[in-house]
Amino acid sequence: MTDKKFIDDLEKNIKSTIRDYHLLSKTDNIVVACSGGKDSIAVLYLLKKFGYDVSALILDLEIGNWSKKNLDNSYAFCDEHDIKLHRICAKDELGFSIEHLMSCVKAKKAVENCTVCGVIKRWLINKKARELGAGKLVTGHNLDDEAQTVFMNILKGNPLLSAGMGPKSGVGAQDMFVQRVKPLYFCTDAELKRYTVIMGFRILYAKCPLSGTVFRRDIKNCLDNFEKDYPDVKRNIVRKYLEMKPALARAQEDKEKGKIKRCSVCGEPARGDICKACEMIGLV
Ligand code: FES
Ligand code: ZN
Repeated sequence: MTDKKFIDDLEKNIKSTIRDYHLLSKTDNIVVACSGGKDSIAVLYLLKKFGYDVSALILDLEIGNWSKKNLDNSYAFCDEHDIKLHRICAKDELGFSIEHLMSCVKAKKAVENCTVCGVIKRWLINKKARELGAGKLVTGHNLDDEAQTVFMNILKGNPLLSAGMGPKSGVGAQDMFVQRVKPLYFCTDAELKRYTVIMGFRILYAKCPLSGTVFRRDIKNCLDNFEKDYPDVKRNIVRKYLEMKPALARAQEDKEKGKIKRCSVCGEPARGDICKACEMIGLV
């Protein structure tokens, strides 16, 4: 397929995801969670190109040179494309580094770095996006990410964990949560890599040096291998998941009796008395 046809198809795919799932409107104040990686840069570029009102929000984790390069690339990209970039620094927000938090949590619980990082990222980015008055928070999650998570939750024996996923996630009805949306939901990892290479964006393709979740990596390799022999395995997982999502969401609601509370420490939304982020911070 020519590059031109490939780009046209990818853009159509993203536009129809936005339209079919009612993800965004031209009047929304849209904040894009930007890591500096290929997915967030691609979605930032495309939303701006499609005429949406976007700004970028980067959480600087200060993980050595890797974070520095991603930050530099994000500033350069936003500068070139006239996009406002907001930066928050994990250390300023927490009072200690994310690496320190990871080591404290891991000393007391069997938790992977990416789990700690994921909880803290969601917590800080939701807070900051809300402060910025965001109507929608866009993330760069793609089809591979979603298929891996759905499959992981099944293998963990807890498919209900997937209840809140999908192209539009977060609990929109709760005003403390900024609605999270995923315009790249039906784009594969390989497509986004090809797109960003064709476009010549300055991107660091290397993974975070601390991301070592063995389970997710194994699932990724497993799905990549399956896909070689059974094309469309990932797409099928995601399609089937979307069909089942309403039933999963109902089962989840029954289990929680629809209750999202406020964390008694930070005031952010929480499933229990204390949110996951405060629980982890309490271990330092
Ligand atoms: Fe989260 Fe590295 S970015 S563990
Ligand atoms: Zn809290």
